[in-house]
Amino acid sequence: MAEHPAYPVGLRLSGRRVVVLGGGQVAQRRLPALLAAGADIVLVSPEATPSVEAMADAGELTWQRRPYADGDLAGAWYALIATSDPEANAAASAEAERHRVWCVRSDDADAATAWTPATGTSEGVTVAVLTAEARGRDPRHTAAIRDAVVAGLRDGTLVAPHHRTRTPGVALVGGGPGDPDLITVRGRRLLAEADVVIADRLGPRDLLAELPPHVEVIDAAKIPYGRYMAQEAINNALIEHAKQGKSVVRLKGGDPFVFGRGMEEVQALAEAGIPCTVVPGISSSISVPAAAGIPVTHRGVAHEFTVVSGHVAPDDERSLVDWPSLAKLTGTLVVLMGIDKIGKIAETLVAHGRSPDTPVALVQEGTTAAQRRVDATLATVAETVRAEDVRPPAVVVIGAVVKAGPESVA
Ligand SMILES: C[S@@+](CC[C@H](N)C(=O)[O-])C[C@H]1O[C@@H](n2cnc3c(N)ncnc32)[C@H](O)[C@@H]1O
Repeated sequence: MAEHPAYPVGLRLSGRRVVVLGGGQVAQRRLPALLAAGADIVLVSPEATPSVEAMADAGELTWQRRPYADGDLAGAWYALIATSDPEANAAASAEAERHRVWCVRSDDADAATAWTPATGTSEGVTVAVLTAEARGRDPRHTAAIRDAVVAGLRDGTLVAPHHRTRTPGVALVGGGPGDPDLITVRGRRLLAEADVVIADRLGPRDLLAELPPHVEVIDAAKIPYGRYMAQEAINNALIEHAKQGKSVVRLKGGDPFVFGRGMEEVQALAEAGIPCTVVPGISSSISVPAAAGIPVTHRGVAHEFTVVSGHVAPDDERSLVDWPSLAKLTGTLVVLMGIDKIGKIAETLVAHGRSPDTPVALVQEGTTAAQRRVDATLATVAETVRAEDVRPPAVVVIGAVVKAGPESVA
């Protein structure tokens, strides 16, 4: 049997009896996939790990609390033999052979009639990697191949073109705060499949350099807008390219819906009848403080955090922020787009009750190679921004959490 390569196949086990002998680590690892396949699972084992026990308690499988007995494999389509008793394993294996039940053995791959491939999924496709022959079996190597293929498909470094017709449309992708590793797996895949990418100045610009030459990359800030507002011009560009049947990615910094005007783009696309999907991103409001060693909440220090736009000053009639109320909160205040108006913001917070000694951190270009953190207090922050020449993009963190981390983290 070992002289020939294994024949790969996908078993459709829905509603079919599968017998699992042994409730230890092997069963614990294999059961989720058997459950996902809809198998009717009978577990025979005197003991089980807490996770396996929880599956039985939840009614996901039938557990017979006893050792293996001859006849257990009758009526099974498939068996997993993984007890800690080699004699029981051998006896069960012989029974499986008699009943022509394909069986996997955890203790003796040579004696098994089936092998479990290393599997992973990406976009509804299962990748299964199997060593061809018993002699060459190297489970770590097959798992490493599986990991490489699945990771490549997920992050777009391995591109497998779809031969189904792709639906043209727009994906609004949150690119995260700037570090190219901080985009989501889905975002990266959509980027790898795009025909056109319209990108903001903020976000993972480095990823654009990796795109194949046929991909048209458009800088959102440079779209000529003529008689339109800049945002309208971007909306029009998205619609125009999608109408040409292209897959368009609108790559945005952070999360598309956190001060990102993402919903305006969604609305414009909906009005034009263009399909649109939104991929959330890691917002700078949380990730940039974290990258500088600041948790936005910390037990015993802050039970809330509030994210505010500081693009207009507190006394500006266009401001929708209730700064006096924010001044009365004791938790963390995270201000985006607030560098220009930080003097007025700090003044207003102090005037309405926040202590002038409240710690403040300014984190510029967080998560990129140029990241820097400058600390101040509400009393000194305006002067610190000037003296240290802190520039956008920067996140301002106000509150006791600024001092929560060890110095070495910042
Ligand atoms: C128009 S808002 C967009 C926010 C974005 N949608 C998000 O969720 O992070 C731009 C502001 O986000 C903050 N910001 C974005 N990326 C940043 C980064 N890498 N470092 C510091 N601040 C950043 C700055 O306050 C900047 O002015």
